[in-house]
Amino acid sequence: MIAAMKNYPYVITVSSEKGGVGKTTLATNLAIFLKALNENLPVSIFSFDNHFTIDKMFAIKGQEVNSDVSDLLLETTGRELLYTGQYGVSYIPSSTALTDLKGAVKGPMVLARLLAASDIPGVLIIDTRPDLDILTQNALYAADQVIIPIKDLASMENCRNIFDLFDKRGLDKKSLSLIPCLIDERIKFEGMFNDQKTLLKAYAINRGYRCHDTYISKSPKVESLNTNPDGKIYPILTHGRGTDVFGQFTQLAKAVMDEMSATKEPRSYLFHQWLTAENNRKKEAFFARLSGLKQDCLLCGRPISPDRQQGASYFYEASDGGAAGFMEEACFSEFLISSLYNINTNLAADDPVRLMLYDTAKESAFAFKPRMNGNGAEVECHRFDLSGTHISKKSYPLKKHGEGAENKQGQLFTLMAGTLDGYGDTFRDAFLLVHPVSAKNPEAILVEENYRELSKLRKSIAEQIN
Ligand SMILES: Nc1ncnc2c1ncn2[C@@H]1O[C@H](COP(=O)(O)OP(=O)(O)O)[C@@H](O)[C@H]1O
Ligand SMILES: [Mg+2]
Repeated sequence: MIAAMKNYPYVITVSSEKGGVGKTTLATNLAIFLKALNENLPVSIFSFDNHFTIDKMFAIKGQEVNSDVSDLLLETTGRELLYTGQYGVSYIPSSTALTDLKGAVKGPMVLARLLAASDIPGVLIIDTRPDLDILTQNALYAADQVIIPIKDLASMENCRNIFDLFDKRGLDKKSLSLIPCLIDERIKFEGMFNDQKTLLKAYAINRGYRCHDTYISKSPKVESLNTNPDGKIYPILTHGRGTDVFGQFTQLAKAVMDEMSATKEPRSYLFHQWLTAENNRKKEAFFARLSGLKQDCLLCGRPISPDRQQGASYFYEASDGGAAGFMEEACFSEFLISSLYNINTNLAADDPVRLMLYDTAKESAFAFKPRMNGNGAEVECHRFDLSGTHISKKSYPLKKHGEGAENKQGQLFTLMAGTLDGYGDTFRDAFLLVHPVSAKNPEAILVEENYRELSKLRKSIAEQIN
């Protein structure tokens, strides 16, 4: 069976921190001109702004719409959100709920991941709000091409922030290009840069910014396209024939198309590959950790129940990675009670002292560190809370089983020998970390994200006890 091929959109983001520079006009009309250039190219568009221009322009009369761009951020597959719109362009309806959702967008790579899994075909154009909020940052990060309209020096000044952002993230600034917009052809200057667009381009190039060859003129006709008695917004392609802007959009669409054709794999596909590799790496690391676990309980020697439903409630690991495994609830708490807390083991199962110790242990991380001092070997036993705050410390002499009549620390020796055994009669320079896990799914602690947390805790503990 051949696996169904997924689609990975080529993404064009239109962005500028300035409002009123022609972003939305550019995004919407570019979509229509691209479609006109190539009937077979699927073209879709959505906006992170809440002015519903996209919807006014592309919605088909009577079309029922029951999802929008906020659903994309809430993890609905992008393709399922596309509505067939006018002029052959598909659109994801706009939303007024994005401001409330912003907090849920964790980091600038969320959209890239969603688009990698979106199954949206062809080209996707994203219109953005006039600021560099987290949604715009996401749209920039996900883009194959970013088009930045500038209409004056102030808007060019502003676009430095986008370039700085790309620098900060280590992104390729080649995908960014400026385009002079709303250019008034009547304005002429003396000297070399004798009109607005030439002046803007000269400034842009001087700063090392890439500029589109073409520009967009200011045209009363174009301006009138969104002010009419029908309350509609008409496209330049159909209603602006004969204007300079018509020719300029044709040229821009061709340039964008050429750049797209020269791109072997869109960012969304590369991102998909990276995610897959990353997932595989995490999976491998998980199984490697899992297969390194000791099969038998360190304390009682019995096999850890294969279904791990029998209360594998503690994970232990030597800080140098030399040994790791699970301990069952009963074994470890019995060890705590008799070896560390020195309490009579004949406590009833429901004795309040015993129950209190159980509860405390479930909220604690323990570190056991063997050391030599004047009197021989001893083990420092530390208790931390799960955020790494040190709570208590006590040292116990390290004695083998049977040494001395009152040797309650025999189990402590067993624990140290089973995990930190070094060359000959010595212990390695490491400590044993014991951390509670959920008895329902103990292996969860070995999953990448959780294990990373555990490693952080281990590091913090190491700094505190060494
Ligand atoms: N080429 C143009 N000629 C004349 N007016 C334009 C042109 N492009 C856009 N406009 C007008 O400028 C205003 C701002 O455009 P818009 O695309 O909404 O900018 P932004 O999305 O950057 O805020 C709108 O009223 C629009 O009709
Ligand atoms: Mg806009």
